[in-house]
Amino acid sequence: MKAIMKVDAGPGLALRDVPVPEPGPDDVLIRVLRASICGTDVHIDKWDAWAAATIKPPLVIGHEFVGCVVAAGSHVRAFKEGDLVSGEGHLVCGKCRNCLGGRMHLCPHTRGVGVNRDGAFAEYLCLPQTNVWLADSAIPPDVISCFDPLGNAVHTALSFDVLGEDVLITGAGPIGCMAAAVCRHAGARSVVVTDINPARLALARRMGATVAVDVSKDSLDEVERFLGMKEGFDVGLEMSGSPAALSQMVNVMFAGGSIALLGLLPAAAAVDWSKIIFKGLTIRGIYGRKMYETWYKMTVLLQGGLDITPVITHRFPYRDFREAFDLMASGRSGKVILEWD
Ligand SMILES: NC(=O)c1ccc[n+]([C@@H]2O[C@H](COP(=O)([O-])OP(=O)(O)OC[C@H]3O[C@@H](n4cnc5c(N)ncnc54)[C@H](O)[C@@H]3O)[C@@H](O)[C@H]2O)c1
Ligand SMILES: [Zn+2]
Ligand SMILES: [Zn+2]
Repeated sequence: MKAIMKVDAGPGLALRDVPVPEPGPDDVLIRVLRASICGTDVHIDKWDAWAAATIKPPLVIGHEFVGCVVAAGSHVRAFKEGDLVSGEGHLVCGKCRNCLGGRMHLCPHTRGVGVNRDGAFAEYLCLPQTNVWLADSAIPPDVISCFDPLGNAVHTALSFDVLGEDVLITGAGPIGCMAAAVCRHAGARSVVVTDINPARLALARRMGATVAVDVSKDSLDEVERFLGMKEGFDVGLEMSGSPAALSQMVNVMFAGGSIALLGLLPAAAAVDWSKIIFKGLTIRGIYGRKMYETWYKMTVLLQGGLDITPVITHRFPYRDFREAFDLMASGRSGKVILEWD
């Protein structure tokens, strides 16, 4: 089968022929129909310090996909040939305290599909049955292929009550844009999205942001006045990974507000702790998606009218993966889909 691979340590990717994976008794073999490119895949392509320390080539990369079940191991009962599926990219141990306590997204032994083992940018993907999600075939396949990052957005956006609240989202990347749509759907009074990239801000507006602010030019004070806000934001979702964005967020939060941190901040990121203390802010780190409560919530939110299709801006046949990766890295796109069918 064809697969997009990191063949050797160093920058770049290659399209190679590799054997179709063999499903074990607990595995499901999936024919990949579409896949979508994640920031993680771009890091692996570029071979930054994180990738160099984490990735052991040769490796088939990718973890966001939609596909069709073609074979199932002898222990598999919940899936059959022809089922439309996506899958959770975090493989957990199933035995530790968090796994046994129903908090699988916090398993300290997590291994990543397309990161620590072969992934989804291939014609076939083999996954343990515990990681396969039966999709609603009424949901468009492109959207199902984005369930992994949509799950990040939904898990973060629903981590605090947003009904009637003023929400600030820093970072209009694909996840920030999807979170804006989720917060509007969940009844936020206003959803303000910040970025420094005009293309991304335009996307945030298409995804339902009440106001999208270029913080390299404009101040949030004016936006707060425009929206009739007196005291600051109730809920903050940090989705840029930028220390400047986190500082700005802390400055404009209402006392007693809550911040969810999804963006991967550098270890040395500084923040004015006294503001967090005197405002009595609640801060929560967010990792991945809940297995499988977030997958359930994504499904019913989409069935109930949540529309994330504007975030899907480009599609390429998998053979043109180089062009697709370069576009994704440029910041001029939303989600980029690779078509395998
Ligand atoms: N915690 C997790 O489990 C998890 C999972 C997936 C992604 N992430 C992280 O979440 C973040 C969002 O993911 P994404 O794929 O949407 O990322 P992305 O890199 O596409 O988007 C980040 C956006 O932040 C913007 N930005 C930069 N500086 C800014 C500033 N000062 N103010 C406002 N915006 C600013 C960038 O222009 C960009 O559009 C990334 O940091 C990613 O690494 C975390
Ligand atoms: Zn992803
Ligand atoms: Zn575990």
